[in-house]
Amino acid sequence: MKPVLLFVGGEDLEASWTAAFAELAPEVAFRFHRPGVDLSDVHYCLAWKAMPDLWPRLTALKAVFCRGAGVDRLLADPSLPRDLPLVRMVEPELTRGMVEYVLWQCLFHHRRVWELEAAQSCAAWRPHVYPAPWDRTIGIMGLGELGAAAAAKLVEFGFKVKGWSRSPKSLPQVACFAGRDQLPAFLAGTEILVCLLPLTPETHGILNAELFAQLPKGASLINAARGGHLVEADLPPAMASGQIGAATLDVFATEPLPEDHPFWAQERLYITPHNASDTDPRSGAWRVARQIARCEAGEPLEDVVDRARGY
Ligand code: NAP
Ligand code: GLV
Repeated sequence: MKPVLLFVGGEDLEASWTAAFAELAPEVAFRFHRPGVDLSDVHYCLAWKAMPDLWPRLTALKAVFCRGAGVDRLLADPSLPRDLPLVRMVEPELTRGMVEYVLWQCLFHHRRVWELEAAQSCAAWRPHVYPAPWDRTIGIMGLGELGAAAAAKLVEFGFKVKGWSRSPKSLPQVACFAGRDQLPAFLAGTEILVCLLPLTPETHGILNAELFAQLPKGASLINAARGGHLVEADLPPAMASGQIGAATLDVFATEPLPEDHPFWAQERLYITPHNASDTDPRSGAWRVARQIARCEAGEPLEDVVDRARGY
């Protein structure tokens, strides 16, 4: 009997994920969730958000897979089964997409592209100077799957790279800092700050006025992690004072970002619609199928979330 995997997600994802499993993992009985259908034969579930009505009906469940890297939305669901493994998404295309986004935005802030746009808008041939990458310091909060890969790419481009994590790390040509005690040393001199932390009780609201004040004046902020990391009310004053010179936000406390949100009108605040990177259906299907095979063979699952840590 094939293991049954239930996919819970938007209808826009049905065709791509169904095709990916059919092509790459025919050994898995892939099923798209439809309301009212019996779920008592489902062994695995691939989900992204809270779904409180569903869990009690999944009586044969062996493991829960998260369709994304960040599991905060699933963990926020009090009805998520606590006794089953929760597996986060780690797959090369998700990592590649995030590395591309971080590089794109770091280069955008490094070269202060908004100054070029302003000059072009009034047909002005203005001198535009910016430091060499080796005179620019970029700090990455979170040195996990995504942060470590982004740091390596920035090193390749010649930037001075610092990184901050919970436990001590050693990465080639990255000045590594760990824990709250070393956060001030990490922030000092960081001209472009990139957040790639998981959202946990410890990291909630970490991007706040107190933290901004420890960066050099005019620093750039790039948040590609979760909206909950940023104290939204602290950003406009920090930008008005020039403490934060520019920012790119991909994630927000409320998504989609409401039409009347003040961020839309904030000068030098660039918004992307939570699409820094997404799980690739083919790569994701392959990864989940390998994990199901491990579980069926009695082998331990990989990338299991530590519920106590929250990531
Ligand atoms: P990961 O592999 O679990 O890495 C998390 C990193 O954060 C680790 O280095 C960890 O430290 C560090 N960390 C966790 N708590 C910390 C704390 N309290 N203080 C300091 N460092 C802390 O996660 P990932 O796969 O890189 O993903 C990171 C996040 O990116 C996800 O959780 C998700 O929210 C976000 N994301 C966003 C998008 C998007 O499109 N915007 C796409 C994918 C992911 P240790 O190494 O010491 O454990
Ligand atoms: C996207 O936000 C993810 O966590 O994969």
